[in-house]
Amino acid sequence: MTTQPSLSRRTFLTASATAVGAGLTSLPYASVAQSTQTMSKTPLYGPPPGVAKLNANENPYGPSPAAIKAMTEAITKGAYYVNDAAETLKTMIAERHGLTKEHIILSSGSSGVLTSLAMMAAQQGSILGSDLFWDTTSRMGTRNSPNGIKRLPKTADLSVDLDAMYVAVDGSIALAQICNPNNPTGSIVSPQKLRTFCEKVSEQTMVLVDEAYNEVTDDPEANSMIPLVKAGKNVVVARTFSKIYGLAGMRVGYMVAAPETVEKISAYGMGSYGLNQAGIAAAVASYNDAAFLAYSKSKIIEAREMIAEAVKVNGLTALPSQTSFMFVNLGAINAEDFRQAMAKENVLIRGVYQDYYHWSRVSVGTLADVEKYTTAMPKVLESLT
Ligand SMILES: Cc1ncc(COP(=O)(O)O)c(C=O)c1O
Repeated sequence: MTTQPSLSRRTFLTASATAVGAGLTSLPYASVAQSTQTMSKTPLYGPPPGVAKLNANENPYGPSPAAIKAMTEAITKGAYYVNDAAETLKTMIAERHGLTKEHIILSSGSSGVLTSLAMMAAQQGSILGSDLFWDTTSRMGTRNSPNGIKRLPKTADLSVDLDAMYVAVDGSIALAQICNPNNPTGSIVSPQKLRTFCEKVSEQTMVLVDEAYNEVTDDPEANSMIPLVKAGKNVVVARTFSKIYGLAGMRVGYMVAAPETVEKISAYGMGSYGLNQAGIAAAVASYNDAAFLAYSKSKIIEAREMIAEAVKVNGLTALPSQTSFMFVNLGAINAEDFRQAMAKENVLIRGVYQDYYHWSRVSVGTLADVEKYTTAMPKVLESLT
Protein backbone atom coordinates (compact mmCIF):
# COMPACT_ATOMS: atom_id res chain seq x y z
CA MET A 1 0.00 0.00 0.00
CA THR A 2 1.19 3.47 -0.78
CA THR A 3 2.02 5.82 2.06
CA GLN A 4 2.17 8.87 -0.24
CA PRO A 5 -0.53 11.47 0.33
CA SER A 6 -3.11 11.00 -2.40
CA LEU A 7 -3.24 13.65 -5.10
CA SER A 8 -6.37 13.57 -7.21
CA ARG A 9 -6.11 14.65 -10.85
CA ARG A 10 -8.24 17.68 -9.99
CA THR A 11 -6.03 18.74 -7.08
CA PHE A 12 -2.99 18.17 -9.26
CA LEU A 13 -4.33 20.34 -12.08
CA THR A 14 -5.41 23.07 -9.67
CA ALA A 15 -1.99 23.06 -8.04
CA SER A 16 -0.33 23.21 -11.46
CA ALA A 17 -2.53 26.04 -12.66
CA THR A 18 -1.91 28.05 -9.49
CA ALA A 19 1.81 27.55 -9.79
CA VAL A 20 1.82 28.64 -13.41
CA GLY A 21 -0.35 31.65 -12.62
CA ALA A 22 2.04 32.68 -9.90
CA GLY A 23 4.97 32.38 -12.29
CA LEU A 24 6.33 29.47 -10.30
CA THR A 25 7.20 26.01 -11.51
CA SER A 26 4.44 24.26 -13.39
CA LEU A 27 4.33 21.21 -11.13
CA PRO A 28 3.01 20.62 -7.62
CA TYR A 29 6.67 20.43 -6.61
CA ALA A 30 6.55 24.23 -6.50
CA SER A 31 6.92 24.01 -2.75
CA VAL A 32 10.16 22.05 -3.17
CA ALA A 33 11.39 24.62 -5.64
CA GLN A 34 10.46 27.41 -3.27
CA SER A 35 12.27 25.91 -0.31
CA THR A 36 15.38 25.33 -2.46
CA GLN A 37 15.20 28.95 -3.50
CA THR A 38 14.88 30.13 0.07
CA MET A 39 17.91 28.09 1.04
CA SER A 40 20.21 29.25 -1.74
CA LYS A 41 18.67 32.70 -2.44
CA THR A 42 19.28 31.91 -6.10
CA PRO A 43 16.14 31.47 -8.16
CA LEU A 44 15.87 28.29 -10.18
CA TYR A 45 14.99 30.24 -13.28
CA GLY A 46 16.21 33.59 -14.52
CA PRO A 47 18.48 36.08 -12.76
CA PRO A 48 18.39 36.73 -9.01
CA PRO A 49 16.22 39.70 -8.00
CA GLY A 50 18.07 42.98 -8.27
CA VAL A 51 20.63 41.62 -10.72
CA ALA A 52 20.77 43.10 -14.21
CA LYS A 53 21.62 40.14 -16.43
CA LEU A 54 23.14 41.69 -19.53
CA ASN A 55 25.54 38.91 -20.51
CA ALA A 56 23.71 36.47 -22.79
CA ASN A 57 21.69 38.50 -25.30
CA GLU A 58 18.38 37.25 -23.92
CA ASN A 59 15.14 39.13 -24.49
CA PRO A 60 13.50 39.70 -21.11
CA TYR A 61 10.25 40.81 -22.78
CA GLY A 62 9.57 37.23 -23.77
CA PRO A 63 7.97 34.80 -23.73
CA SER A 64 5.01 36.52 -25.37
CA PRO A 65 1.59 36.12 -23.72
CA ALA A 66 0.54 33.83 -26.60
CA ALA A 67 3.65 31.69 -26.06
CA ILE A 68 2.97 31.41 -22.32
CA LYS A 69 -0.61 30.31 -23.02
CA ALA A 70 0.53 27.72 -25.57
CA MET A 71 3.25 26.37 -23.26
CA THR A 72 0.81 26.09 -20.37
CA GLU A 73 -1.39 23.94 -22.56
CA ALA A 74 1.52 21.94 -23.93
CA ILE A 75 2.89 20.92 -20.54
CA THR A 76 -0.28 19.01 -19.78
CA LYS A 77 0.69 16.78 -22.71
CA GLY A 78 4.29 16.53 -21.60
CA ALA A 79 3.95 12.78 -21.28
CA TYR A 80 4.14 12.50 -25.06
CA TYR A 81 7.04 12.95 -27.44
CA VAL A 82 6.97 15.92 -29.78
CA ASN A 83 5.35 15.03 -33.08
CA ASP A 84 2.80 17.02 -35.11
CA ALA A 85 3.58 20.40 -33.61
CA ALA A 86 7.12 20.21 -34.95
CA GLU A 87 5.76 19.57 -38.43
CA THR A 88 3.43 22.56 -38.02
CA LEU A 89 6.36 24.78 -37.06
CA LYS A 90 8.43 23.59 -40.02
CA THR A 91 5.51 24.27 -42.35
CA MET A 92 5.06 27.78 -40.94
CA ILE A 93 8.73 28.60 -41.42
CA ALA A 94 8.82 27.09 -44.89
CA GLU A 95 5.71 28.95 -46.01
CA ARG A 96 7.14 32.31 -45.06
CA HIS A 97 10.14 31.73 -47.32
CA GLY A 98 8.38 29.94 -50.16
CA LEU A 99 10.16 26.68 -49.28
CA THR A 100 9.02 23.20 -48.24
CA LYS A 101 9.24 21.71 -44.78
CA GLU A 102 11.96 19.42 -46.14
CA HIS A 103 14.12 22.57 -46.22
CA ILE A 104 13.87 23.02 -42.43
CA ILE A 105 15.72 21.30 -39.56
CA LEU A 106 14.51 22.09 -36.05
CA SER A 107 16.76 21.62 -33.06
CA SER A 108 17.32 22.44 -29.42
CA GLY A 109 18.19 26.09 -29.94
CA SER A 110 20.02 26.84 -33.15
CA SER A 111 23.07 25.50 -31.26
CA GLY A 112 21.77 21.97 -31.86
CA VAL A 113 21.81 22.13 -35.62
CA LEU A 114 24.86 24.43 -35.75
CA THR A 115 26.81 21.80 -33.82
CA SER A 116 25.56 19.04 -36.13
CA LEU A 117 26.71 21.06 -39.12
CA ALA A 118 30.12 21.71 -37.57
CA MET A 119 30.51 17.98 -36.85
CA MET A 120 29.65 17.21 -40.45
CA ALA A 121 32.08 19.83 -41.76
CA ALA A 122 34.82 18.53 -39.49
CA GLN A 123 34.71 15.20 -41.32
CA GLN A 124 35.80 16.97 -44.50
CA GLY A 125 37.94 19.96 -43.52
CA SER A 126 38.15 23.16 -41.54
CA ILE A 127 35.64 25.86 -40.74
CA LEU A 128 36.64 29.32 -41.93
CA GLY A 129 35.49 32.34 -39.96
CA SER A 130 36.43 35.92 -39.24
CA ASP A 131 38.78 36.46 -36.31
CA LEU A 132 35.92 37.22 -33.94
CA PHE A 133 32.55 35.54 -34.40
CA TRP A 134 30.12 33.41 -32.41
CA ASP A 135 32.15 30.22 -32.66
CA THR A 136 30.79 28.20 -29.72
CA THR A 137 29.14 25.52 -31.84
CA SER A 138 32.01 25.41 -34.32
CA ARG A 139 34.36 24.70 -31.44
CA MET A 140 32.00 22.07 -30.00
CA GLY A 141 31.47 20.37 -33.35
CA THR A 142 35.17 20.18 -34.23
CA ARG A 143 36.60 19.22 -30.86
CA ASN A 144 36.99 15.53 -31.69
CA SER A 145 38.39 16.18 -35.12
CA PRO A 146 41.87 17.05 -36.41
CA ASN A 147 40.15 19.78 -38.41
CA GLY A 148 39.34 22.96 -36.53
CA ILE A 149 38.56 26.60 -37.11
CA LYS A 150 40.68 28.78 -39.39
CA ARG A 151 40.40 32.45 -38.53
CA LEU A 152 41.04 35.43 -40.75
CA PRO A 153 43.42 38.13 -39.52
CA LYS A 154 41.96 40.95 -37.43
CA THR A 155 40.55 43.96 -39.24
CA ALA A 156 41.14 47.48 -37.92
CA ASP A 157 37.43 48.22 -37.53
CA LEU A 158 36.54 44.66 -36.40
CA SER A 159 34.42 44.18 -39.52
CA VAL A 160 34.07 40.90 -41.40
CA ASP A 161 36.40 41.14 -44.41
CA LEU A 162 34.53 39.22 -47.11
CA ASP A 163 37.27 39.77 -49.70
CA ALA A 164 39.90 38.26 -47.40
CA MET A 165 37.55 35.41 -46.64
CA TYR A 166 37.01 34.71 -50.32
CA VAL A 167 40.76 34.59 -50.88
CA ALA A 168 41.19 32.24 -47.89
CA VAL A 169 38.77 29.61 -49.22
CA ASP A 170 40.81 26.71 -50.53
CA GLY A 171 40.45 22.93 -50.69
CA SER A 172 40.97 22.60 -46.93
CA ILE A 173 37.81 24.56 -46.10
CA ALA A 174 34.62 22.56 -45.63
CA LEU A 175 32.49 25.44 -44.40
CA ALA A 176 32.74 29.22 -44.61
CA GLN A 177 30.88 30.63 -41.61
CA ILE A 178 29.53 34.15 -41.30
CA CYS A 179 27.61 35.46 -38.36
CA ASN A 180 25.47 38.33 -39.62
CA PRO A 181 25.01 40.56 -37.73
CA ASN A 182 28.11 39.40 -35.96
CA ASN A 183 28.34 38.45 -32.30
CA PRO A 184 30.07 39.94 -30.29
CA THR A 185 30.69 42.98 -32.49
CA GLY A 186 27.06 43.72 -33.38
CA SER A 187 28.07 44.87 -36.88
CA ILE A 188 26.41 43.82 -40.09
CA VAL A 189 27.78 43.43 -43.61
CA SER A 190 25.98 44.91 -46.57
CA PRO A 191 23.44 42.44 -47.99
CA GLN A 192 24.56 43.08 -51.57
CA LYS A 193 28.17 42.29 -50.73
CA LEU A 194 27.22 39.24 -48.69
CA ARG A 195 25.00 37.92 -51.46
CA THR A 196 27.79 38.23 -54.02
CA PHE A 197 30.20 36.57 -51.59
CA CYS A 198 27.81 33.68 -50.92
CA GLU A 199 27.18 33.16 -54.62
CA LYS A 200 30.90 33.00 -55.40
CA VAL A 201 32.07 30.98 -52.41
CA SER A 202 29.22 28.48 -52.52
CA GLU A 203 30.62 27.33 -55.86
CA GLN A 204 33.62 26.04 -53.91
CA THR A 205 32.36 25.13 -50.46
CA MET A 206 29.29 25.33 -48.26
CA VAL A 207 28.49 28.74 -46.74
CA LEU A 208 26.77 29.09 -43.38
CA VAL A 209 25.12 32.37 -42.47
CA ASP A 210 24.16 32.50 -38.80
CA GLU A 211 21.25 34.94 -38.65
CA ALA A 212 20.46 34.67 -34.93
CA TYR A 213 19.86 38.43 -34.70
CA ASN A 214 18.32 38.99 -38.14
CA GLU A 215 14.94 40.07 -36.77
CA VAL A 216 16.57 42.86 -34.76
CA THR A 217 18.22 44.46 -37.81
CA ASP A 218 16.90 47.52 -39.62
CA ASP A 219 15.69 45.49 -42.58
CA PRO A 220 15.43 41.78 -41.70
CA GLU A 221 14.16 40.68 -45.09
CA ALA A 222 16.84 42.47 -47.11
CA ASN A 223 19.55 41.22 -44.74
CA SER A 224 18.61 37.55 -44.95
CA MET A 225 20.39 35.07 -47.19
CA ILE A 226 17.50 32.57 -47.07
CA PRO A 227 16.56 33.45 -50.70
CA LEU A 228 19.89 31.93 -51.75
CA VAL A 229 18.78 28.60 -50.31
CA LYS A 230 15.67 28.89 -52.43
CA ALA A 231 17.84 29.71 -55.44
CA GLY A 232 19.62 26.37 -54.97
CA LYS A 233 22.99 27.75 -53.80
CA ASN A 234 25.17 25.73 -51.43
CA VAL A 235 24.18 28.09 -48.59
CA VAL A 236 22.58 27.25 -45.25
CA VAL A 237 21.05 29.74 -42.82
CA ALA A 238 20.57 29.35 -39.07
CA ARG A 239 17.88 31.16 -37.08
CA THR A 240 16.71 30.98 -33.48
CA PHE A 241 13.75 31.60 -31.20
CA SER A 242 16.18 32.55 -28.41
CA LYS A 243 16.66 36.19 -29.30
CA ILE A 244 13.82 38.45 -30.45
CA TYR A 245 11.22 35.77 -29.61
CA GLY A 246 12.38 35.77 -25.98
CA LEU A 247 12.50 31.96 -25.73
CA ALA A 248 16.17 31.24 -24.96
CA GLY A 249 15.28 28.87 -22.13
CA MET A 250 12.80 26.97 -24.27
CA ARG A 251 15.52 25.86 -26.71
CA VAL A 252 14.18 26.09 -30.23
CA GLY A 253 16.15 27.01 -33.31
CA TYR A 254 16.33 25.95 -36.91
CA MET A 255 18.34 25.78 -40.08
CA VAL A 256 17.17 26.40 -43.63
CA ALA A 257 18.97 24.32 -46.26
CA ALA A 258 18.43 22.31 -49.43
CA PRO A 259 16.52 19.08 -48.66
CA GLU A 260 19.56 16.88 -49.49
CA THR A 261 21.71 19.02 -47.17
CA VAL A 262 19.03 18.77 -44.48
CA GLU A 263 19.31 14.99 -44.70
CA LYS A 264 23.08 15.04 -44.45
CA ILE A 265 23.18 17.43 -41.48
CA SER A 266 20.36 15.54 -39.73
CA ALA A 267 22.59 12.45 -39.64
CA TYR A 268 24.60 14.28 -36.94
CA GLY A 269 21.61 15.38 -34.86
CA MET A 270 18.92 13.95 -32.63
CA GLY A 271 15.91 14.68 -34.82
CA SER A 272 12.70 15.25 -32.89
CA TYR A 273 14.26 13.60 -29.80
CA GLY A 274 16.15 16.84 -29.31
CA LEU A 275 12.94 18.90 -29.16
CA ASN A 276 10.54 19.62 -26.35
CA GLN A 277 6.78 20.03 -26.39
CA ALA A 278 6.61 23.37 -24.59
CA GLY A 279 9.33 24.98 -26.67
CA ILE A 280 7.71 24.00 -29.95
CA ALA A 281 4.31 25.20 -28.68
CA ALA A 282 5.85 28.56 -27.76
CA ALA A 283 7.59 28.87 -31.11
CA VAL A 284 4.40 28.11 -33.05
CA ALA A 285 2.49 30.67 -30.98
CA SER A 286 5.18 33.36 -31.39
CA TYR A 287 6.35 32.91 -34.96
CA ASN A 288 3.76 35.17 -36.59
CA ASP A 289 3.05 37.37 -33.55
CA ALA A 290 3.87 40.65 -35.29
CA ALA A 291 2.68 42.82 -32.39
CA PHE A 292 4.94 41.08 -29.88
CA LEU A 293 7.92 41.15 -32.22
CA ALA A 294 7.45 44.86 -32.95
CA TYR A 295 7.18 45.57 -29.23
CA SER A 296 10.33 43.59 -28.43
CA LYS A 297 12.25 45.27 -31.21
CA SER A 298 11.23 48.76 -30.12
CA LYS A 299 12.31 48.01 -26.55
CA ILE A 300 15.61 46.55 -27.72
CA ILE A 301 16.33 49.65 -29.79
CA GLU A 302 15.34 51.97 -26.94
CA ALA A 303 17.67 50.16 -24.55
CA ARG A 304 20.45 50.12 -27.14
CA GLU A 305 20.15 53.89 -27.53
CA MET A 306 20.42 54.28 -23.75
CA ILE A 307 23.66 52.30 -23.81
CA ALA A 308 24.99 54.29 -26.79
CA GLU A 309 24.27 57.55 -24.97
CA ALA A 310 25.98 56.38 -21.76
CA VAL A 311 29.00 55.26 -23.77
CA LYS A 312 29.26 58.71 -25.33
CA VAL A 313 28.68 60.63 -22.10
CA ASN A 314 31.43 58.61 -20.43
CA GLY A 315 33.90 59.42 -23.20
CA LEU A 316 33.97 55.94 -24.72
CA THR A 317 33.02 54.59 -28.13
CA ALA A 318 31.13 51.53 -29.32
CA LEU A 319 30.66 49.79 -32.64
CA PRO A 320 27.39 50.55 -34.40
CA SER A 321 25.03 47.72 -33.53
CA GLN A 322 22.15 46.07 -35.37
CA THR A 323 21.66 43.56 -32.59
CA SER A 324 20.49 43.26 -29.00
CA PHE A 325 23.95 44.01 -27.62
CA MET A 326 26.78 46.50 -28.00
CA PHE A 327 30.54 46.10 -28.19
CA VAL A 328 32.07 48.90 -26.18
CA ASN A 329 35.67 50.08 -26.49
CA LEU A 330 36.89 50.73 -22.95
CA GLY A 331 40.08 52.50 -24.03
CA ALA A 332 42.84 51.55 -21.62
CA ILE A 333 40.59 49.57 -19.27
CA ASN A 334 40.67 45.79 -19.33
CA ALA A 335 37.28 44.25 -20.12
CA GLU A 336 37.65 41.52 -17.48
CA ASP A 337 38.38 44.11 -14.76
CA PHE A 338 35.37 46.06 -15.97
CA ARG A 339 33.19 42.93 -15.89
CA GLN A 340 34.22 42.14 -12.33
CA ALA A 341 33.67 45.69 -11.12
CA MET A 342 30.27 45.80 -12.81
CA ALA A 343 29.33 42.45 -11.21
CA LYS A 344 29.95 44.04 -7.80
CA GLU A 345 27.28 46.57 -8.80
CA ASN A 346 24.93 43.67 -9.65
CA VAL A 347 25.35 44.20 -13.38
CA LEU A 348 26.40 41.09 -15.32
CA ILE A 349 28.20 41.68 -18.63
CA ARG A 350 30.89 39.87 -20.64
CA GLY A 351 34.63 39.99 -20.11
CA VAL A 352 37.53 39.73 -22.57
CA TYR A 353 37.03 37.95 -25.91
CA GLN A 354 40.19 36.27 -27.21
CA ASP A 355 42.82 39.03 -27.24
CA TYR A 356 40.37 41.93 -27.60
CA TYR A 357 41.34 43.02 -24.11
CA HIS A 358 39.64 46.40 -24.12
CA TRP A 359 36.33 45.47 -25.71
CA SER A 360 33.32 44.78 -23.55
CA ARG A 361 30.02 43.28 -24.68
CA VAL A 362 26.81 44.34 -22.97
CA SER A 363 23.39 42.95 -23.86
CA VAL A 364 20.30 45.07 -23.82
CA GLY A 365 17.82 44.02 -21.15
CA THR A 366 14.83 45.70 -19.61
CA LEU A 367 15.12 49.48 -19.51
CA ALA A 368 15.45 49.26 -15.72
CA ASP A 369 18.34 46.81 -16.04
CA VAL A 370 20.08 48.92 -18.66
CA GLU A 371 19.68 51.89 -16.35
CA LYS A 372 21.59 49.95 -13.69
CA TYR A 373 24.41 49.57 -16.21
CA THR A 374 24.40 53.23 -17.25
CA THR A 375 24.24 54.36 -13.62
CA ALA A 376 27.10 52.11 -12.53
CA MET A 377 29.27 52.98 -15.54
CA PRO A 378 30.86 56.30 -14.38
CA LYS A 379 31.58 54.93 -10.91
CA VAL A 380 33.11 51.73 -12.26
CA LEU A 381 35.17 53.54 -14.89
CA GLU A 382 36.51 55.91 -12.28
CA SER A 383 37.44 53.05 -9.97
CA LEU A 384 39.49 51.48 -12.77
CA THR A 385 41.38 54.56 -14.01
C1 LIG B 1 25.14 34.37 -33.27
C2 LIG B 1 24.54 33.30 -32.45
N1 LIG B 1 24.18 32.17 -33.03
C3 LIG B 1 23.62 31.18 -32.35
C4 LIG B 1 23.42 31.28 -30.99
C5 LIG B 1 22.84 30.10 -30.29
O1 LIG B 1 21.67 30.36 -29.63
P1 LIG B 1 20.56 29.27 -29.42
O2 LIG B 1 21.20 27.93 -29.33
O3 LIG B 1 19.91 29.68 -28.16
O4 LIG B 1 19.67 29.37 -30.63
C6 LIG B 1 23.79 32.44 -30.31
C7 LIG B 1 23.62 32.58 -28.86
O5 LIG B 1 23.93 33.54 -28.24
C8 LIG B 1 24.36 33.49 -31.07
O6 LIG B 1 24.74 34.64 -30.51
